[in-house]
Amino acid sequence: MIGRLNHVAIAVPDLEAAAEQYRGTLGANVGDPQPEPDHGVTVIFIELPNTKIELLHPLGEDSPINGFLEKNPSGGIHHICYEVDDIIEARDRLKDSGARVLGTGEPKIGAHGKLVLFLHPKDFTGTLVELEQA
Ligand code: CO
Repeated sequence: MIGRLNHVAIAVPDLEAAAEQYRGTLGANVGDPQPEPDHGVTVIFIELPNTKIELLHPLGEDSPINGFLEKNPSGGIHHICYEVDDIIEARDRLKDSGARVLGTGEPKIGAHGKLVLFLHPKDFTGTLVELEQA
């Protein structure tokens, strides 16, 4: 069921500084900031040969990553995203196994224009997992 690692998301307190570190120090191909008001974040994608890094910065006062940055003031890995072929089939299979799906339980359109949903970290080795329909 599980497919490629689509991206690793890192929440950062200073988006420009993080982007410059990847661009300058690591020589990565760093995209432009994209505001995602529906998700309460501004995102920068970094293209690597085998996957992507997603830098996340809070957008708005009730951003879902505000609490994370309060606990991790210098930033940290926020979630990992795996691709699946059929997100509804994957969701139902995970729910049957006891995993909780966050929010309404229905997939939303994510930062790449594809359907995504998130699984509760307590049900997944303490890791927030995003599934994206490939
Ligand atoms: Co993501």
